[in-house]
Amino acid sequence: MATAMAKTTTTTMRASSLLLVIVLLLVLQLNSVLSWKKDEFRNCNQTPFCKRARSRKPGSCSLVATDVAIDDGDLIAKLVSKEADKGHGEGEEQQQEEEKEPVKPLIFKLSVFQNGILRVKIDEDPSLDPPKKRFEVPEVVLPEFENKKLWLQRVSTEVINGDSGPSSIVYLSDDHDAVLRHDPFEVYVRRKGGDRVVSMNSHGLFDFEQLRKKKEGEDWEERFRSHTDTRPYGPQSISFDVSFYGAGFVYGIPEHATSLALKPTRGPGIDHSEPYRLFNLDVFEYLHDSPFGLYGSIPFMISHGKAHGTSGFFWLNAAEMQIDVMGSGWDAESGISLPSSQSRIDTFWMSEAGIVDAFFFVGPGPKDVMKQYAIVTGTSALPQQFATAYHQCRWNYRDEEDVAHVDSKFDEHDIPYDVLWLDIEHTDGKKYFTWDRVLFPNPEEMQNKLAAKGRRMVTIVDPHIKRDESFHLHKEATKKGYYVKDATGNDFDGWCWPGSSSYPDTLNPEIRSWWAEKFSFQNYVGSTPSLYIWNDMNEPSVFNGPEVTMPRDAVHYGGVEHRELHNAYGYYFHMASADGLLKRGDGKDRPFVLSRAFFPGSQRYGAIWTGDNSADWDHLRVSVPMILTLGLTGISFSGADVGGFFGNLEPELLVRWYQLGAFYPFFRGHAHHDTKRREPWLFGERNTELIREAIHVRYMFLPYFYTLFREANTSGVPVMRPLWMEFPSDEATFSNDEAFMVGNSIFVQGIYTEHARHASVYLPAGQSWYDLRTGVAYKGGVTHKLEVSEESIPAFQKAGTIVPRKDRFRRSSTQMVKDPYTLVIALNSSKAAEGELYIDDGKSFEFEKGDYIHRRFLFSDGKLVSSNASPPASSNTPFSSDCFIERIVLLGLSLGAKSAIIEPANHRVDIELGPLNLRRGQMPSFPTIRKPNVRIADDWTIKIL
Ligand code: GLC
Repeated sequence: MATAMAKTTTTTMRASSLLLVIVLLLVLQLNSVLSWKKDEFRNCNQTPFCKRARSRKPGSCSLVATDVAIDDGDLIAKLVSKEADKGHGEGEEQQQEEEKEPVKPLIFKLSVFQNGILRVKIDEDPSLDPPKKRFEVPEVVLPEFENKKLWLQRVSTEVINGDSGPSSIVYLSDDHDAVLRHDPFEVYVRRKGGDRVVSMNSHGLFDFEQLRKKKEGEDWEERFRSHTDTRPYGPQSISFDVSFYGAGFVYGIPEHATSLALKPTRGPGIDHSEPYRLFNLDVFEYLHDSPFGLYGSIPFMISHGKAHGTSGFFWLNAAEMQIDVMGSGWDAESGISLPSSQSRIDTFWMSEAGIVDAFFFVGPGPKDVMKQYAIVTGTSALPQQFATAYHQCRWNYRDEEDVAHVDSKFDEHDIPYDVLWLDIEHTDGKKYFTWDRVLFPNPEEMQNKLAAKGRRMVTIVDPHIKRDESFHLHKEATKKGYYVKDATGNDFDGWCWPGSSSYPDTLNPEIRSWWAEKFSFQNYVGSTPSLYIWNDMNEPSVFNGPEVTMPRDAVHYGGVEHRELHNAYGYYFHMASADGLLKRGDGKDRPFVLSRAFFPGSQRYGAIWTGDNSADWDHLRVSVPMILTLGLTGISFSGADVGGFFGNLEPELLVRWYQLGAFYPFFRGHAHHDTKRREPWLFGERNTELIREAIHVRYMFLPYFYTLFREANTSGVPVMRPLWMEFPSDEATFSNDEAFMVGNSIFVQGIYTEHARHASVYLPAGQSWYDLRTGVAYKGGVTHKLEVSEESIPAFQKAGTIVPRKDRFRRSSTQMVKDPYTLVIALNSSKAAEGELYIDDGKSFEFEKGDYIHRRFLFSDGKLVSSNASPPASSNTPFSSDCFIERIVLLGLSLGAKSAIIEPANHRVDIELGPLNLRRGQMPSFPTIRKPNVRIADDWTIKIL
C-alpha cells in the first residue's frame, strides 16, 4: 500500500505542487490508518449493540406467541411481551436505551418449503407505524424459491413433554416437524420421533430493539476513535440464541482466518475471546488465527455430528453481526434445561440492524444441507474452462513489455498458464476503465497477442471512483446522483487508491445497470472479448473511514442506512460487474469476475479470493480452512494468493504453496509490489521444475475439476470439501483442516512446515487410497507416517473412483481442448469403481439448454461401461466432441490380465504395464489399456479378458 501511495504522489507531482502537498499530508494520515493495529478496529466491548447483547442473561426474553394461526399458507403469530419490564441486561446503556415503553408486538411468520427448509421471519408490525421500514436484503433469495413454498393447511396444538404450555406444530417434511412453542416463545425443528435438530430462543436470549422516537436528552451518537456515527434511528439490534442438536462441531460463518471447526468463544475457561465478527473489512496484514471479521460475510452455520448428521442455520441479514459459539457449561447457572439428551452446541447471534429472516436446514447429510442452502441462495455459476486453470498475477505488471516478457517466459519454461492480470497501476491515475497510455499504449494488441495463445487478461475495476472533474465516469455519476450519500445528504467522499473518491450505490438496480454498461467494448476503451474483471476493495474499503470502511450513517437508495446493508455492498457491486460482462457479449459468454468482498449469493456472480494473506507457513496452512469454509457456505470458486501477498518467501514455501494451490478451486499466484518478483522460473532450475510439476498437476486434472465445477453448479456441493463431507461418520475427520477432498475422489494434505521429511496423514476409513504419484495403495482409517520429498505433497485417489485426466501439456487450457483423455481407475476391494466426466464448450451458456456431454464410467465384474449420465440434449445443436481416450490405467487390478475387448466395435486391445504418470519417468508398473480408441462421447464397454 505504501508504495502505491508513493506512486500516487509521483503521478501527482507531475500535475501540480499544490496537489503534492495535499497528497503528502494524506499519505501521513493514511499511514497511521493502514498499518495493522488491533486498536483500529472495534471489539465487542467497543460495539454497544454487541456489549448489550452479550450482557443479557438466559431466560431474559419475555416474549410469548399469541394469535397463532395459518394465514396464506404460513404459520403466523404475534410475539408480545409478557412482562414488559422483565429481565433486561445489566449495563447502564441498556437501561438508557430501553427506557421502558410498552413493547409493541412483533410479527412472526413461519413458512415451510420443499426439501425440508424452514423460514422464520420476525419484524415490527407495519400497521403500528414504526419510524422506518427495517431493511430486508433484496436479491439474495432466488426468485424461484418462493415457488417451492408448501402451503400449510393444518396446525396442531399440543403440550410437548416438559413444557407447561402449548406449542403449534406444522409439517416440515416427511421426517420433520416445525414447532412454535408459545410461552416462552421458541421455534425449532424436530424429527418425527421427537429429537430436536435446530432451535431458536431455547435459552431465552431473543431480543429485538424496536425503532422508536428519540426521547429528550437521549444521545444516540456513537463515537469510535475520531469518528462519530450519528445513528439517527437509534438502537435497532436483534439477538438470539440458536442451538444445534446431536452436534459434534459447528462450521461456516466466513470470513475469518481460523480453524474449520469453530472454537468456542464464550463459556467456562474461555477468557476474553471475541465473538466471530461478520463485518466486511479491508484488514491490512490479517492474523492467521482470529475471529476477527475479514472481507466478506456469510451468516450461515453448519453443524455436524456422527449420530444425527448435519443441519444448518442461515440468517439473511447484511448489518454487522457477531456470533458466539458457546463452550459447554456456559449456561450452567441459567436454570434452563433443554428437553433433550442429545449433545448440543449453543450459539448466540447478534446483529446491529435489519430483521430476522432465518432459514433452518435439516440435512440430514452434509450434501443435503449444501443443497438446501443452494435452493435458497443459488449454486455457483459454472466458470469458463480457462478460469479453472492457472492465473498469473502481480501488483503490478509494469507495462506491455513486462506483460510480453512474462508471457514468453512461461512458454520458454514449458509452464502452462491461462490468464495474466493487471493490477491498479495499469490505469490512468487509478481511474478504472482507463489505461496508462504511456505504459500500455496498445491494450487491444496486447490482449490479442495473449488470446492468440488461448490466454486471457484480467484488469482490476474497484468501486471507488476518482473525484476528478475530467473523469467522465465521475461527472456522469455526480450528475445522475448515483453515488452513496453521506449523513448530510452530499455525495459520500472517502479516500482510496485514487485519493478523493465516491462510491456508486449499487443497491439501486438502475445504478447497477448503468455500471454494467461501462463494460461494453465501446465504453471500456481498450478492452477486448478476452478481457475479464477483478473487483477489489468492495467491502468497501475507505482508507480514512471508521475501521477503514464507509460510515454506518451513509445513506443508500431508498433511505437505507449503510449500517443495514454494509455486508452486502460488495455483493451488489460484484453482481453489477458480472452483469456488465454478460451484457457486453450479448449474454453469450460466461462472465469471470473475481471479488474480494462477498455475501450469500456471491457464488452466482464469480470467484472469491481470501485477500491479503502473508507469505508465511501459517498463512499457507490457514488457507485450507478458509477455502473449505467458503465452500461450505456456497462459494465453491475460491482460492488464496499462492505465495502469500505480503512479504518475500523462501523458494521452499513457494513450491509448497504451488503444490497445495494446484488443488484450490481458484488457482492464482499474486504478490504485493514491494515483494521481489516471484514468477515460477526465478528460483533456480530445480524449483522451476517443481513449480512446473505442480502447475502440470492442475492442468492434468482440469477435466476432473471442470466436472466438479459442474456438480457445484447443479447441486451446491463444493469442489473442495472438508473430509467429513465425504466421510460423515468418520469422527477422526471432523476437525481435520489440514487435509481436504477435491470432489469425492482425491484427498490432499498440504505440507505446512519447513524442511519436512515426514507427514502424519490420516486417510479416512472405509476404503484404501492410491498415492497420486506412485500408485502405491494405503489403508484407510489409519494415520500413516509418510516420507515426504520436495517433489509433492501427500495426495491420493480413493479406491472405488475413476478420475478423468488430460496428460498432454500445452501452453494454456484452451489448447488442450482437443487432446485425448486418460482415465485412472482405482479399484476398491470389490474390484469396482465409478466416476464421471462433464464437458461442454467451456465458454457459453449453451449448456443450460443441455448442450453438453456428461458420461458415467462404471467398472465392475471386469468390465468398464461408459454411459450417458444425463438426458440427451433437447437443443438442435447438441455439444459434440471428437476426443478419444488414449489411456486407461487400472490401479488395483491383478497383473495377470493381458487383453481387453471393446464393444460394440468388437476389437481387441492389449493390456500392458504402463506408468501412472507419463511425465515422471516412472517404471511402467500398472495395467494400462493403451489406445483403446473409444470416443469420449460414445457408449461403449471394455471387457477385461
Ligand atoms: C488490495 C488487494 C490486492 C491488490 C491491491 C492493489 O490490497 O487485496 O490483491 O493487489 O489491493 O490493487
